[in-house]
Amino acid sequence: MLVDIVTIFPGFFASPLATGLLGKAGERGLVEVRLHDLRDWATDRHRSVDDAPFGGGAGMVMVPGPWFDALDELEAQGPARVVLLAPDGRRFDHKVAQRLAAEPRLILCCGRYEGIDERVRTRVDEVLSIGDFVLAGGETAALVVLEAVARLVPGVMGNADSVTDESFAAGLLEYPQYTRPAVYRGLEVPAVLRSGDHGAVARWRRDQALDRTRRLRPDLLEQAEEDADGPQAPG
Ligand code: ADE
Repeated sequence: MLVDIVTIFPGFFASPLATGLLGKAGERGLVEVRLHDLRDWATDRHRSVDDAPFGGGAGMVMVPGPWFDALDELEAQGPARVVLLAPDGRRFDHKVAQRLAAEPRLILCCGRYEGIDERVRTRVDEVLSIGDFVLAGGETAALVVLEAVARLVPGVMGNADSVTDESFAAGLLEYPQYTRPAVYRGLEVPAVLRSGDHGAVARWRRDQALDRTRRLRPDLLEQAEEDADGPQAPG
């Protein structure tokens, strides 16, 4: 997968892209990330990318020109799904991550300041938000999307089971995990996990995942039921 990121802070991504899973995915050529400084498409001496809002008000708005020119140039290199990160976007979740992981190329656009000129939205395929809060800009959100998507790209995770087993893949939270020692400060690992009975372990994990989801995220179970029922006829 190829990911182009357009930002006024390309340096923001240096450490995360060189570290851990994203670092490995890059080294192995599974997820190639190209960083682009939006200011490279600015046309004035100061390389400015923002201006005061029409109609007045506080803050600055990103001007359309550099965004249109950047997308003209990047899209001319080949097809890509263009994603704008903004707090008023559709909520990003595991399902969206799975869908994006199947794309050969993404262009992630990071907004800043009070917002981007509305006309830029005519150039994007979708707008994504990572939650109901406002970040200083889209960079952190782009990183969240990138990491969640990259680990679903085939070959990135060493063990394919860890992607299919985990939270949200099945619409449930994950079951509790334990490792050695079997007793730590008087806290014991559940006996079933040490029983060697694989069927019992699988049942226990399923029950725990269900119980945990019921207690902590009942909304996920409601969603899973809705998905299973399929679309309802009107009336
Ligand atoms: N930019 C600012 N806040 C954001 C959010 N919550 N999600 C995505 N992009 C953003």
